[in-house]
Amino acid sequence: MARFAFWLSALAVIQAAHALRYLGRVNPATKELTWSATGLSFAFSGESATITFQGLTGSNSAELIVDGASTYIPDLEGDSISTPANLTYGYHTVEFRKSSEALFGSIFIGNVTTDGQFERDPVPTRRKRRKIEFIGDSITSAYGIAGAFPCTNTAALEVISQGYAVRAAKAFRADYSIISWSGIGIIRNYPSGTADSGPIMPVRYTRYGANDPDDSYPFPLTDRPDAVVINLGTNDFGHSDGRPLLSPADYTAALVSFVYTIQHMYGSKPVIFFMTSPLLGDAYPADEMQKTVQTLALYDAVAQLLWTTTAYVVHWPTQTSNVGCDYHPTADTNAIGAAALQSALAKVLKWA
Ligand SMILES: *[C@@H]1O[C@H](CO)[C@@H](O)[C@H](O)[C@H]1NC(C)=O
Ligand SMILES: *[C@@H]1O[C@H](CO)[C@@H](O)[C@H](O)[C@H]1NC(C)=O
Repeated sequence: MARFAFWLSALAVIQAAHALRYLGRVNPATKELTWSATGLSFAFSGESATITFQGLTGSNSAELIVDGASTYIPDLEGDSISTPANLTYGYHTVEFRKSSEALFGSIFIGNVTTDGQFERDPVPTRRKRRKIEFIGDSITSAYGIAGAFPCTNTAALEVISQGYAVRAAKAFRADYSIISWSGIGIIRNYPSGTADSGPIMPVRYTRYGANDPDDSYPFPLTDRPDAVVINLGTNDFGHSDGRPLLSPADYTAALVSFVYTIQHMYGSKPVIFFMTSPLLGDAYPADEMQKTVQTLALYDAVAQLLWTTTAYVVHWPTQTSNVGCDYHPTADTNAIGAAALQSALAKVLKWA
């Protein structure tokens, strides 16, 4: 095959908007990757392609997938990332995703270049793409998933592709958007030594990038999800700082209200899946029965939404004693949660 790319003097720079697709919630005005698993995808014919960065802040892990082969980058550095040097001239697909969550740092995308030419969006557009939006806390962020207890969570240990969300979405070849933040609650955040006074999820959820102003996300028609998975409550249940026990009725009311907000913002009615928490159990604290209390509160939310919304409870069993950093779910525990969610999605949405 002629390797005519050699004598092309100018690098092709992505111009056509349709050639590059942002993955997840990415504000095109800033090109800042904040939320877990946000990124971009494109296809090209050539030998190499490079994504330059306007800059990086904090620490970030990432994943580069070229022609389906994934490379995990525990600590992204430098001012660009390129396809492997050994690619042969031809058609290639590239997917680049942030792995760590927003609070660790941001990746500001610059230009995307190739020695060849860009091709059309590699994703088939003939059928309507399946879309799942995940809303959660550290569990959904894959916090400490690659560590073995005891350990300190870092960006490198948040391997989002091992989390339940990416696993379940991939099983259906669905697009996915993850809006998550460690320590966040729906009513109140995790009671660490100093109270977490950051925004609760119904507030943070309205941001385009995680660091953008409240109410900046426009909820475009193209992002309308088929399913919304809500995995919140683990932090609300905490009361180690002496605050009162969570009122299950308040928890339920907040979930119901949040679902109405989501419907209102998107102007649509995605199917809602409330997931129980693998970190909550009935054994500890012994007198609180947190797993049961949460499960009943989620059923109560489904009942209150009955006339307006298709909603389900997905049971993610309490994890075993095999845990990641700060008692967070391991990859194995995430596989169990993913399987539970997959069977619910398959049944309700008739996805195969
Ligand atoms: C390119 O090199 C990587 C290791 O750096 C290897 O895993 C991969 O199989 C190679 N690909 C080809 C097409 O030779
Ligand atoms: C992107 O390309 C433009 C035009 O060539 C250039 O001015 C700019 O510095 C590039 N930005 C990055 C981050 O590489």
